[in-house]
Amino acid sequence: MDTLRLGRWQDALAGVECDALIVDAPYSARTHSGHDRGLDTGRYDAINGTSADRRAITYEGWTPEDVAAFVQDWSQRTRGWIVTITDHVLAPVWADALADQGRYVFAPLPWVAAASRVRLAGDGPSSWTCWIIVARPRTGNDRTGRPFSKWGTLPGAYLHTSDRPSHIGGKPLALMEALVRDYSRPGDLVCDPCAGYGTTLAAALRQGRQAVGAEMDPETHARGLEYLDRNGRARDLFEAVEQVTAAQELPW
Ligand SMILES: C[S@@+](CC[C@H](N)C(=O)[O-])C[C@H]1O[C@@H](n2cnc3c(N)ncnc32)[C@H](O)[C@@H]1O
Repeated sequence: MDTLRLGRWQDALAGVECDALIVDAPYSARTHSGHDRGLDTGRYDAINGTSADRRAITYEGWTPEDVAAFVQDWSQRTRGWIVTITDHVLAPVWADALADQGRYVFAPLPWVAAASRVRLAGDGPSSWTCWIIVARPRTGNDRTGRPFSKWGTLPGAYLHTSDRPSHIGGKPLALMEALVRDYSRPGDLVCDPCAGYGTTLAAALRQGRQAVGAEMDPETHARGLEYLDRNGRARDLFEAVEQVTAAQELPW
């Protein structure tokens, strides 16, 4: 199975069913226009980095209709949790759409990118917080036979600062690994239909899940394949020790 497929999810993932859907779909048009307006000022800063790192967003913001169509489709094909990261505009739209599909929707969870600087111009995130909407099926069991309604205790917030400032919308790997651990089981198939640079898919593979996703922009897809090549495997103990040792090498 190709892990990161090139194309729109509507085509590239036709017929795919998954255990958990973890997606970081485009934010609202309001946030996108704020991002792009902010680039003109030179004073722009945002959740992921400095103005020097930033490019205009290459894809359209999503409308409530886009969210509804996405949720309607993937609710039928996702056995377990649906998890999405979004902005304050679309957070209630996602929650309503998931509830309309009969899912049990929890209160929005904050993702706090602590110590990031906020935007000084334009619209968009004006705080450190984006929103994670999580929803589970009201009935049924996971692959191990445990009811989704007895999943266990989960964190009420996520605090992870960006590690990918040059990637538009690229999420911290540690955040995505935490979401994968919290909302899927080992061996599950995790799907991200708007995969971007492949962070969710790398996180899933590192956590011993299977992973599949799609990205429609060829350049982003190519960078995602490279990222998965470097980061998309479960780390063994020796590799982890090597990385720690390398990180401690000092320049003098
Ligand atoms: C916020 S970014 C995802 C970033 C990703 N989580 C990461 O860490 O790299 C959203 C991505 O969805 C892609 N996208 C939007 N609509 C899509 C569609 N219909 N099919 C596939 N990809 C889509 C965009 O090109 C964009 O790269």
